[in-house]
Amino acid sequence: MRTFNIAVLGATGAVGRELIDILRERKFPIKSLKALASARSAGRAIEAGGETLIIEEATPESFDDVDIAFFTAGGAISQRFAPEARSRGVVVIDNTSAFRMDPEVPLVVPEVNGEDLLEHDGLIANPNCSTTIAVMALAPLHRAAGIKRAVVSTYQAVSGIGAAAIDDLQRQVKQYVEGKPITATTYPSPSAAKQYQMLFNLIPHIDAFDEADYTKEEWKMVRETQKILHDDSLKITATTVRVPVFRSHSESINVELHKELSAARAREVLENAPGVRVYDNPEKQEYPMPLLTTDDDLVWVGRIRQDLSVPWGLNLWVVGDQIRKGAALNSVQIAEELVARQLV
Ligand SMILES: NC(=O)c1ccc[n+]([C@@H]2O[C@H](COP(=O)([O-])OP(=O)(O)OC[C@H]3O[C@@H](n4cnc5c(N)ncnc54)[C@H](OP(=O)(O)O)[C@@H]3O)[C@@H](O)[C@H]2O)c1
Repeated sequence: MRTFNIAVLGATGAVGRELIDILRERKFPIKSLKALASARSAGRAIEAGGETLIIEEATPESFDDVDIAFFTAGGAISQRFAPEARSRGVVVIDNTSAFRMDPEVPLVVPEVNGEDLLEHDGLIANPNCSTTIAVMALAPLHRAAGIKRAVVSTYQAVSGIGAAAIDDLQRQVKQYVEGKPITATTYPSPSAAKQYQMLFNLIPHIDAFDEADYTKEEWKMVRETQKILHDDSLKITATTVRVPVFRSHSESINVELHKELSAARAREVLENAPGVRVYDNPEKQEYPMPLLTTDDDLVWVGRIRQDLSVPWGLNLWVVGDQIRKGAALNSVQIAEELVARQLV
């Protein structure tokens, strides 16, 4: 069996470490594994994938002799290193927003549009975490009855910001328990002009504000969903909110369909969708929650019910581990699909 030289750029981060764990867990055919990060971390040892790895500083030469590189160190770093890696014949799977809307770059959730990989030219984008979780539920319904309009409201975990945000929320909990003033350094983001307490709070501001007072995170939900589903006519609107949950994003999704689809039929459609778990028993008080989906690979869907205010509408509650399916797992699945289709 063919084996591959792998590089992970951003190996010390929340997504990078998980990615290495998942590569090992799923027995990806690895010949060598290079863990790359900034000069700050060079020489540091990390535990990931059941082994100790020594971090190397990423340089253009880091990509000599690499077959597949996973980029998860932020958009600017991807912009800098993707051309270097591609010019060395590396296939790059990028987790950042740097290339997602580039028409030449496939934006892929393997269960939904794996065939788009056929068009790749050495660079594949992994969608934004909240978009991936949404499309896992939206795509099967779109195929079954055509979605006319979707309204998405997210409840996003702090680890979506990165490893520093997990530490910051833990520190806020400790400060509260010790009766000390709560300080905040990471919310809504480390670079924001003002910082807010996350503990006991909700912050309706993820990524920077952009056109029409939507945040970039909200525009990602709109545009990336249309690109993945190959349907620019799909109307979507979103409000994205940070919540004091460590891990797993939750999303309230309302869809209006082009034709009738009962809640019972929608449940069947979703039960047959790969990568989706329907967990929806109101009588037993069973519905998806972030604590249930954390460390799980599936996107859980519950609270499936008719929207009684329109002729053909449904309400759903969708929850998934955004570090796994929203980022690291999806990237590894893209690599597996490339290998299976002999595209690398
Ligand atoms: N967290 C999520 O749920 C999630 C989901 C989907 C997508 N993403 C995307 O994935 C990327 C990483 O997110 P994260 O949450 O893992 O962030 P993180 O925990 O803050 O990790 C950032 C990583 O980038 C590395 N890095 C920073 N500056 C660098 C430089 N100049 N050169 C090389 N490496 C550098 C860091 O290395 P050092 O240790 O050396 O600083 C670290 O390994 C982001 O683009 C994010 O938007 C994250």
